[in-house]
Amino acid sequence: MEETKEQKNRLEIICSTMHITPSGEICKTMKGLIKEAESFIEEAEDDEIMDAGLIAGAQRVEHYEISGYGTAVRYAKELGHRDIAKKLQVTLDEEYDAGNKLDELAEGRLNRKAIDQA
Ligand SMILES: [Fe+2]
Repeated sequence: MEETKEQKNRLEIICSTMHITPSGEICKTMKGLIKEAESFIEEAEDDEIMDAGLIAGAQRVEHYEISGYGTAVRYAKELGHRDIAKKLQVTLDEEYDAGNKLDELAEGRLNRKAIDQA
């Protein structure tokens, strides 16, 4: 949560630097990913399967964020906004870290337990 607040803060600084007013528009894809995870929770037959599904859902979210921030970093570099690219890169690195932690969880005992119980 703290990391997300800092990421939001970075975006606000970037918008301010570029004289952009954020619209507050809700991302339809992210909303869909969250809805998909919620549906999985409702259908999961036990806690282990639910945990495996939640990890998979969170991995999708992180990969989507990595895609978005990766593109934003590249655009900032191409447009010559080096300081903004650096700020976005910090967030991109955090998203990679989060994705890697989820990968470790997925490859660990939770998925194996879900297979054992299926
Ligand atoms: Fe994230």
